[in-house]
Amino acid sequence: MIEIKKLSYKYPGATRFALDNIDLTIEDGKYVAILGHNGSGKSTFSKLLSAIYKASSGKIIIDNIEINAENLPEIRKKIGIVFQNPDNQFIGATVEDDIAFGLENKKINFTEMHDIVLKYAREVGMIDHLDREPQNLSGGQKQRVAIASTLALDPQIIIFDEITSMLDPKGRSDIYKIIHDLHKKTNKTLISITHDMDEALLADKLIVFSGGKVVAIGTPLEILKNKEIIELAKIDSPFVYKLSEMIEGVNPTYDESQLIEEICKLK
Ligand SMILES: Nc1ncnc2c1ncn2[C@@H]1O[C@H](COP(=O)(O)OP(=O)(O)OP(=O)(O)O)[C@@H](O)[C@H]1O
Ligand SMILES: [Mg+2]
Repeated sequence: MIEIKKLSYKYPGATRFALDNIDLTIEDGKYVAILGHNGSGKSTFSKLLSAIYKASSGKIIIDNIEINAENLPEIRKKIGIVFQNPDNQFIGATVEDDIAFGLENKKINFTEMHDIVLKYAREVGMIDHLDREPQNLSGGQKQRVAIASTLALDPQIIIFDEITSMLDPKGRSDIYKIIHDLHKKTNKTLISITHDMDEALLADKLIVFSGGKVVAIGTPLEILKNKEIIELAKIDSPFVYKLSEMIEGVNPTYDESQLIEEICKLK
């Protein structure tokens, strides 16, 4: 479980806090989406949680261990992070080397390592591209390799920081499918920072940031119903939901088949 207590962070030289007194809990195995307008503190939060930055004040407790200078290596093993820009995260000369890279520090033999690389390359649909140079891949393929490299290390928690924002719709939906499958097949905690409401709807829970604060936590439907939050966080409601709200006698929903069912029931 992740417990965040009164967490604040101020960048060196900044006048205001990028994160201001945040409290929240994320249970194991949940898929959580973080929403919020530009500059609301989402990436800062992801870097604190993954122990890249050190909190100005407050606590981050993961599995009952509070992050501190001594347990950083232990904490970092529990968390993987995939970033927005795929070009900044390649180390290996080939896709295969890249997925294997983090494993080289673990004391496992070559055969075992090779099996892990193949397993995750297959899982993200990159098994036919093992010899390719990561720089020459498409944006979506790069992100899939980045996900495989993270999965190979088997972290309990994975943070995706707007990993689809530079991709086309097909690249996006491929990635959403990978995240969704991970959620179904594993007990990993998945935290996805996104501007895409279509993705957020797949999550168990949404956390909304605004001005460095957490302004709402709830299920996708609870958040969509909250007009004040939608306005504040500049969330674009999905088309199906907007339509459902416009039809008298229909319960608001973002589920297309439910909407059709509701319309059919109208007298
Ligand atoms: N390296 C930095 N130095 C100083 N201030 C920063 C730095 N990075 C971010 N900030 C500031 O901290 C605040 C939160 O930024 P953050 O990057 O966490 O926002 P975000 O929610 O991830 O935004 P986006 O949706 O644009 O990615 C902003 O006011 C931003 O200008
Ligand atoms: Mg960001």
